[in-house]
Amino acid sequence: MSQIDIKDLFDESRFPSGWRLVSLLLYSPVGLVLVFLRFLVGLQLWLLASVLPDCDALRTILNHGLAFVFGILVKIDPKGEIPDKQTRIIIANNISALDHFALRKGACTLTPSLWDLPSALSNALGLQDMNMSSKDALIANIKEFLASSEWNIALQPEFGSTNSRVALLKFNSWPFSIEPSVQPVVITTRRPEFSDIRLTSVASTWWTDVFWFMFVPYTMFNLRYLKVKRNSNQEVLARNVETDIAEALHLSTSNYTVSDKTEFEKRYVLEKTQSRAIQSRVSTNPQPMASIEMQRMARQVSEVLPLVPHNVILRDLLKTRNVDVTIANILDGIVTYTPEPTAPAPSSSSNISKVNVTLTKDGNGTGSLTFQQRKAKMIAEARERYILKHGLGNC
Ligand SMILES: *[C@@H]1O[C@H](CO)[C@@H](O)[C@H](O)[C@H]1NC(C)=O
Ligand SMILES: *[C@@H]1O[C@H](CO)[C@@H](O)[C@H](O)[C@H]1NC(C)=O
Ligand SMILES: *[C@@H]1O[C@H](CO)[C@@H](O)[C@H](O)[C@H]1NC(C)=O
Ligand SMILES: *[C@@H]1O[C@H](CO)[C@@H](O)[C@H](O)[C@H]1NC(C)=O
Ligand SMILES: *[C@@H]1O[C@H](CO)[C@@H](O)[C@H](O)[C@H]1NC(C)=O
Ligand SMILES: *[C@@H]1O[C@H](CO)[C@@H](O)[C@H](O)[C@H]1NC(C)=O
Repeated sequence: MSQIDIKDLFDESRFPSGWRLVSLLLYSPVGLVLVFLRFLVGLQLWLLASVLPDCDALRTILNHGLAFVFGILVKIDPKGEIPDKQTRIIIANNISALDHFALRKGACTLTPSLWDLPSALSNALGLQDMNMSSKDALIANIKEFLASSEWNIALQPEFGSTNSRVALLKFNSWPFSIEPSVQPVVITTRRPEFSDIRLTSVASTWWTDVFWFMFVPYTMFNLRYLKVKRNSNQEVLARNVETDIAEALHLSTSNYTVSDKTEFEKRYVLEKTQSRAIQSRVSTNPQPMASIEMQRMARQVSEVLPLVPHNVILRDLLKTRNVDVTIANILDGIVTYTPEPTAPAPSSSSNISKVNVTLTKDGNGTGSLTFQQRKAKMIAEARERYILKHGLGNC
């Protein structure tokens, strides 16, 4: 397992703090006007691309126009290597929703996509409509495309962006099976100090990311070519390129894949909406019936787990509506909490002093039992007390 917490890979907020936030607020009227103007220009370009026949001149115009719409400037890092003309697969890290555009501008590449746009617009954006129904279909399609076109193909084997400050997502290895050599490119960006909004935040959609691209005066993309890597073993090649790119960015590699990211975001959104729902439920007192029932169930859980704060129990119960599931959630550490500092619950009759297991967040006590064993023990003890208390023993 990697030591990095997946939380650290993503930012909750894209906004800066301190004086940067003040300068951002001062800038925001200008930013909004800029968004409006850019949106109008974008609309015009869309129309242009829809009515005019596809040709090189149109593509060039669209590409320059879109650079204004997104506020993207691209620079090739002079300290990088000279790009190798023979290598047609460009591998880059993924930092934003518009990397494909920067790569198109700086490295003349197209990125496979599903979007069915007018072909000139698609090309100007750096996208290429491909059959992505399966990995094999896509690989075949890319090979076919490379054989029949001048353009190179850019792939970003992370398939998702992070905050680019801690670690890369684990590179998927299929992009390395197309050709035995690949050209790694490292992408970094910079935005003006007074509007230093991050490129993305956790669970943001592409259009919010694009909105902030249009809001800031410009986003400078810096592309740096690394040495071409060759290896006929795709797994080895993937790991080598991953390490090279991570080193160039001073990041570590990780074992988190894009599906871990998706999971994390789902959980994050769920927790957000649930805590909001609870707040509104608590403030607008629900139907008395439900709430009395809830309180009764919460008391049952409290009897078993006296150290868990009441509001934590209630919050989980609102989700599960089941005493046993909530107890299991708490014991499994799915529900985290800080134990109540004050000793045992008001139910004086239960013999709390017997409970000799401290509930800690990571569940690692000092005993020699493993977490699983201690958990099983605790559940058994809890169940015993519960049965005793409610006189269910003779059922
Ligand atoms: C990823 O997992 C493998 C095996 O499970 C391990 O050898 C490797 O060190 C891990 N990599 C990181 C960055 O944690
Ligand atoms: C994509 O590839 C799959 C499998 O090769 C094929 O069945 C499907 O018809 C293709 N779709 C398109 C739109 O070409
Ligand atoms: C890069 O990351 C963005 C944001 O997570 C995502 O929308 C995009 O599809 C990724 N690019 C590629 C080529 O996977
Ligand atoms: C709790 O249990 C212990 C040992 O089983 C016993 O000595 C003690 O009297 C009990 N206390 C109460 C309040 O029942
Ligand atoms: C509580 O735990 C300590 C050490 O972990 C042990 O010495 C003691 O006997 C335990 N008490 C009960 C009542 O289980
Ligand atoms: C938990 O404790 C065991 C030994 O009791 C130790 O080997 C392990 O590293 C600990 N885990 C954590 C997360 O502290």
